[in-house]
Amino acid sequence: MFYLASGVVAVEVTGGPTVHFVPGRRDSKISPREGRLPDAKQGVPHLKEVFRMGLSDKDIVALSGGHTLGRAHPERSGFDGPWTKEPLKFDKRELLNEENEGQLKLPTDKALLEDPVFRYYVELYAKDEEAFFRDYAISHRKLSELGFSPSSSGSKVSVKGSTILAQSAVDA
Ligand code: HEM
Repeated sequence: MFYLASGVVAVEVTGGPTVHFVPGRRDSKISPREGRLPDAKQGVPHLKEVFRMGLSDKDIVALSGGHTLGRAHPERSGFDGPWTKEPLKFDKRELLNEENEGQLKLPTDKALLEDPVFRYYVELYAKDEEAFFRDYAISHRKLSELGFSPSSSGSKVSVKGSTILAQSAVDA
């Protein structure tokens, strides 16, 4: 749950949308086996396969917009550099602009331009940041609630007297 909360706060304080977040999901005590993350060196079929868990093509493009924050590190992934000019600002990416020197595009990011449905959303989000923010917030929440049913968790979290950074994000 703390990972999820940190992600929601990070998106909001860097200028992104409020992701409505229901506390209560429990952290697993067991680490997932290695190799389950998407492989950045692959293309369209891999992306569709790896996200086939209740997420749509639209979710895939919206979530890939998460590559507006931060950067890649050669010692971690072999890729190097920030995705945008302002890596600490959550804003829309310019995947369509070929001339963004020094701004990293992973093979999986480039694949978003190859499939017609993916590309439709890339083009939509390039011209309409409001649509990107709205869809990103929905897809982020959907991803974080896969296999978790907030209404049945019965968890109640008291926030009185605490400092809440993303106040509006707490939906409990
Ligand atoms: C589409 C499939 C995805 C692939 C193949 C992928 C791959 C990668 C890779 C290779 C890096 C660089 C790691 C490093 O060298 O430090 C990275 C970083 C990052 N990814 Fe993804 N990712 C994917 C989806 C996502 C999603 C869904 C989100 C969030 C919504 C996300 C958010 C981030 C962020 C914020 C960083 C920067 C981390 C930092 O600054 O240390 N990624 N990703």
